[in-house]
Amino acid sequence: MLEAGPVRPVVRVRDVWVEYSLAASPLRSRKRIHALRGASFDVLEKETYGIVGASGSGKSTLLKVVMGFVRPSKGSVEIDGIDLYNADGRTRKNIVKRLGYVSQNPLAAVDPRYRVRDIIAEPLRASGVPKREVSRILPALLEMVDLDPDVIDLLPHELSLGMLQRVVIARAIAVKPRVLLLDEPTSALDTVTQSHIVSLLGELKELFGYTSILVSHDLKVVSHLANRLAIMMAGLILEEGPTSEVLESPLHPYTRELVDSMKLKEVGEVFITDPSACPFYAHCPRRLEERCRELPLLTEVGSSRRVRCWLYV
Ligand SMILES: Nc1ncnc2c1ncn2[C@@H]1O[C@H](COP(=O)(O)OP(=O)(O)OP(=O)(O)O)[C@@H](O)[C@H]1O
Ligand code: SF4
Ligand SMILES: [Mg+2]
Repeated sequence: MLEAGPVRPVVRVRDVWVEYSLAASPLRSRKRIHALRGASFDVLEKETYGIVGASGSGKSTLLKVVMGFVRPSKGSVEIDGIDLYNADGRTRKNIVKRLGYVSQNPLAAVDPRYRVRDIIAEPLRASGVPKREVSRILPALLEMVDLDPDVIDLLPHELSLGMLQRVVIARAIAVKPRVLLLDEPTSALDTVTQSHIVSLLGELKELFGYTSILVSHDLKVVSHLANRLAIMMAGLILEEGPTSEVLESPLHPYTRELVDSMKLKEVGEVFITDPSACPFYAHCPRRLEERCRELPLLTEVGSSRRVRCWLYV
C-alpha cells in the first residue's frame, strides 16, 4: 500500500475503478469494460510521472479521471489535497481550470474555425486575464514553443501537425498549469517531429519545473522525460519505480519485454483472455502455471518500487 509520506503529493490517486457500459445491440448483448481496476499512485511536486501501456490499457481513462472528465465508480483523486469528486461544483471547476491538457490528436483538440491567436488565448480569457495582458503574453508563448510570431493569424489547416501540436502545448501552458497532463503528445506525428516535440517538452520542463503526467505507448518517449514510470496493462498498474531503476532492472516480465524492445524488438500485441488471471499470463515466459491464474497484488519492493507479479511475493 502507498503510505502518506512527509511531502504531500500534488496528485494523489487512490484505488480508482472505471467501468464503461456498452448498450446492447442486435449483434451483442450489453457489455461492461473494466477500463481501470484499482489504480493508485502519487505525483510529487515538479515531477514528471510517466505512464506506459499498450492500446486499451486504460492510460487515457486515467488522465480523464484526473482531469475531472470521467467520474470513477470507486476511488478518489486529490489535487493539492482537495478531493476532486467530493468537492462542490465551483471548487472542482477551479481545480480543473488549473490543469493543462495536451491530447494525442491535435486536430481534434482545436476548433478548426479558430485562429492560433484565439486557440491559445481561450484559457487565458476564461481565467479572466485582461485583453491587453493576453496580447502581451501571446508572442512570448509562441516563442516558448518555437513558433514564428507570423503564425498567430493562421487557421489550424494552414499549419503542419507538428506546428499545431506546438499551438496546443502553448495553450496548455498559457495558464501556468498546476499539473500538465500529456496524453500521447507525439503519437500522431512523424518520427522527426516527434523528437522535436520531445525536446520541446524537455526544455519547457527545465524552464518551468512543472508537475506533469505523461502517457504514451512508447517507453522511449516517456523515459526521456519522466522521473518515475508506471507500466500498465488491462486497467492495472503492473510496475512502478524511478525511471532509471525500471530501465536498468525491470522487475515485471512485461516491463522487461518493453525495455528489451527499446533496444531490440517490437513487443507483440498482448491479448487478455482471463480477467481474473495475471494479464500477462498467456505470454509470460516465467509464468507459474497455477499461481499466475490468480491476479497478484501490486506489492512494494524496496523503498521505491512496486510490482504486480507472483515472482516478487
Ligand atoms: N467512452 C468509452 N466507452 C466505452 N469503452 C471505452 C470508452 N473509452 C475507453 N473505452 C475502453 O476502455 C479501455 C481503456 O481505454 P483507454 O482509451 O483508456 O485506453 P488507452 O490506454 O488510452 O488506449 P490507446 O493507447 O488506444 O489510446 C479500452 O478497452 C477502450 O476500448
Ligand atoms: S504473475 Fe506470473 S504470469 Fe504474471 S508476470 Fe508474474 S510470473 Fe508472469
Ligand atoms: Mg489513449
